[in-house]
Amino acid sequence: MTMTERDPLTGVTVDRLTPALGAEVRGLRLAEADEAMAAQIGALLVEHRVLFFPDQHLDLDQHVALGRFFGPLEQHPHLTNAYLNHPEVFELAASKGGIADEWHTDLTFLAQPSVMSILNMVRCADAGGDTMWTSLEAAYDELSPALQELCEGLSALHDATAHGRPEAWAIHPVVRVHPVTGRKALYVNDHFTRRLVELTHAESELLLGYLTRWVTDPRFVVRYRWTPGTIAMWDNRCTQHCVVNDFGGERIIQRVTIMGDEVEGPGPRWSPHTARRGAVTYHDRQLKAALRERSRPAAGQG
Ligand SMILES: [Fe+2]
Repeated sequence: MTMTERDPLTGVTVDRLTPALGAEVRGLRLAEADEAMAAQIGALLVEHRVLFFPDQHLDLDQHVALGRFFGPLEQHPHLTNAYLNHPEVFELAASKGGIADEWHTDLTFLAQPSVMSILNMVRCADAGGDTMWTSLEAAYDELSPALQELCEGLSALHDATAHGRPEAWAIHPVVRVHPVTGRKALYVNDHFTRRLVELTHAESELLLGYLTRWVTDPRFVVRYRWTPGTIAMWDNRCTQHCVVNDFGGERIIQRVTIMGDEVEGPGPRWSPHTARRGAVTYHDRQLKAALRERSRPAAGQG
């Protein structure tokens, strides 16, 4: 594998950024995207998990049109930017507190978290404000076989407490299997994952803390330095991301997200574990409530 690949017919170049994930793509004009280009990009995304396209400068219509090639778009469940007149475009401005500086996979508190996000870097920080992505597949692969096997038998409760909405929740397998590649990914994140369902609260705190730190090991991470007008796309099924909150001044991004699918993975090997008596039952209230809601036949789920 060379780090740079150039297609002699189209002139498109693909620069691999790290062994774990990430590539910078030049020679495609995303404003003129068509089905063939979308298929080409989709294949690159499966291979690299996060792609960067510098110097694109898409307007809102072009951004939305690009997203639609990859599936139906969703509106953010808790945040709106009505002034954009595009409900599918979600804007984060640093001056309004929009700095996603905690590691996360987008919207994992939903039963079907988005499969892919497309970000337009509208205004960069003067210096700093890089974004990091991590490969959850590399993170899974590098666990010991013993811990891999334990994780495959677990599920996790995710919620939107980070958005002030703890009642929005979902339970997903801790090991997610990618529907295209069949590869396994460690599917827990610091921002939304609250509890490993089959462990005690104390065990969950320890293991979840370990796993959410583990996925941020620099070997699994690409850190990208932005220029204005760059488009980034990532596969939300096997990555996490985090902004480096080291900058002052303004930084504005706009994002569209492609609607999600069911999170596939090995089913839990044990029953949910909650304490029956004692002060520690306090810690299990949320999990018990979620399990009660899940067991109701017509229950809605976050
Ligand atoms: Fe995000």
